[in-house]
Amino acid sequence: MVIKMKTIIQKIDATNMASSDFKEAAELLRNGKLVAFPTETVYGLGGNAYDSTASARIYAAKGRPSDNPLIVHISCFDEILPLVEAVPQNARVLADRFWPGPLTMILNKSDRIPKETTGGLDTVAIRMPSHPIANRLIKEAGIPIAAPSANASGRPSTTKAEHVIEDLDGRIDMIIDGGSSDIGLESTIVDLTVEPALILRPGYITIEMLREVIPDIEYDKAVLKRMRDDSIVAKAPGMKYRHYAPKGELTIFEGDTDAVSKAIGKAAEEKLRSGYSVGILTSDELAGSYEDLKKYVTEGKKPHENGALYIKDIGSRENEAEIAAGLFDALRYFDEVGAEFIYAEAFNDGGLGQAIMNRLMKAAGYHVITL
Ligand code: TXA
Ligand code: MG
Repeated sequence: MVIKMKTIIQKIDATNMASSDFKEAAELLRNGKLVAFPTETVYGLGGNAYDSTASARIYAAKGRPSDNPLIVHISCFDEILPLVEAVPQNARVLADRFWPGPLTMILNKSDRIPKETTGGLDTVAIRMPSHPIANRLIKEAGIPIAAPSANASGRPSTTKAEHVIEDLDGRIDMIIDGGSSDIGLESTIVDLTVEPALILRPGYITIEMLREVIPDIEYDKAVLKRMRDDSIVAKAPGMKYRHYAPKGELTIFEGDTDAVSKAIGKAAEEKLRSGYSVGILTSDELAGSYEDLKKYVTEGKKPHENGALYIKDIGSRENEAEIAAGLFDALRYFDEVGAEFIYAEAFNDGGLGQAIMNRLMKAAGYHVITL
């Protein structure tokens, strides 16, 4: 059981920050305590990566299985040296190109990193975030910071301090509120301990971008899977767990956009008529096609009301960055209003779309209707 504690909420303005803003957070981290902080991808739940007790606290606070390794965050390249056995050439090349930024590399770990931090593995995941608050916090703490996404295990990752408060208030020592995470999806993970290198989790850094520097890089098979198939085991332990799932039953509709909006409208209306509350995850292009269902829209009704419709438009289908940034927030919104059935449009899966669809498919438990 986690003892309920007082969580300090500290606002920091990334455009105007001083060393003193980080004093308490850095001290907490050095003392084995937990501090959630913003990064450019999602919020992280940080602890001292060298301290096995801090790692154990992270697992407990999240309710995360302890065989699911943590990402170790550094603030400049040389901080990688004590963490790994050796720095392969590929790691230098990737760091030159993509660090600081939303890329995580898996390398063989040194003895300094306890097994508790790496979920029992001999490898370690390392990332140098570009968010100024994350970078400064690591520097001020003077230690590498182990940090998974700052959400309760199984829930969508957190892209705002309010999300972190929802999931972890009273379970961790401090939350640094630095506004919204720009990217909104977790980092791309690349395994450099195998040949050819493998992408274990798609993210903002796409395969096309990676191939410019590592031409033979491939996806881990589990990344491309389009349906529930237990014979394909993900190489990133975390990718095997139920993830991002909203409380309502989420179904994705893919195909011609006209057919998609018609099918979603029909499915939604059926459920609404039976008194269920329904969420629709849509885009600027298709949001207008649910006019017929307007009478069910929640205006003037309370959340959780029977037969209520909640429509969430997360941006233009043409603007993948906008869709990525709004996805987790939308999934959390449907939980907040108590949507029992959620119908989502599929998005294009090239470029950043690969990461968007990877998260959406997991959230839906691969429940897709193809039209
Ligand atoms: O953007 C991000 O990566 C965010 C921010 C906070 O940096 N962090 C994040 O951490 O998403 P987390 O713990 O939610 O996801 C880490 C993923 C998990 O799927 C885990 O299994 C995998 O990385 N991972 C960590 N270490 C690994 C290792 N040594 N080998 C294979 N997979 C590993
Ligand atoms: Mg996570």
